[in-house]
Amino acid sequence: MKPFTTFVFLFTLCVAVLPPLIVAHPTNVTKLIRQACAHTAHKALCVDTLAADPISQGAANKTGLALVALRVASQNASDITELIKASVNDPSLAPAVQQGLSDCMDNYVDAAQQLDDSLAALLAGAHDDLSIWVNVAIADSDSCEKSIQGFKTEMSKENVKFRMLCENALAIAKAVAVAGN
Ligand SMILES: *[C@@H]1O[C@H](CO)[C@@H](O)[C@H](O)[C@H]1NC(C)=O
Ligand SMILES: *[C@@H]1O[C@H](CO)[C@@H](O)[C@H](O)[C@H]1NC(C)=O
Ligand SMILES: *[C@@H]1O[C@H](CO)[C@@H](O)[C@H](O)[C@H]1NC(C)=O
Repeated sequence: MKPFTTFVFLFTLCVAVLPPLIVAHPTNVTKLIRQACAHTAHKALCVDTLAADPISQGAANKTGLALVALRVASQNASDITELIKASVNDPSLAPAVQQGLSDCMDNYVDAAQQLDDSLAALLAGAHDDLSIWVNVAIADSDSCEKSIQGFKTEMSKENVKFRMLCENALAIAKAVAVAGN
């Protein structure tokens, strides 16, 4: 192709293809998201994660957003489990590091389960159970952090962010429990 033809071709491609891609991923910080995240300690992370979730856009009340926040935390626990699975058998890791990661994997399998139970608790209005179970998920990530103490791994970063997601979800759920939707 001649340079100009190539340009026209690429330009047409961009105009035709990019807008649908942009439309497919709208991020919309709704008033409700801002109100819900005002209760949380990690507001920027809260707004980012809720606005990125398509279900948040249609949420009618804070309960809907608490559900999204819990689901995001649960998904994060599952993703972290997968991340560990991919590296735990790396033969270049020292046995003690492998053991630490293996313990972390158990912790995050449990954390995902606790958060799924918390989703059910929220729907049932069982706020005390929810609070206990989200705190167990947080304790799971603390246990993981202890297992890998002294080792240089990416896990510490994951532990910190996971804890923030849990704390945010708990704060929104608490706001619902105290003041209703
Ligand atoms: C963003 O939120 C506003 C107000 O809730 C709504 O009218 C609009 O349709 C939303 N846009 C998208 C892309 O979801
Ligand atoms: C809150 O929103 C959910 C859907 O997100 C809906 O099922 C529920 O009835 C709403 N509750 C109130 C009190 O409006
Ligand atoms: C877990 O969530 C955090 C915060 O959104 C993100 O930075 C991190 O990459 C996620 N972890 C995985 C393994 O997807």
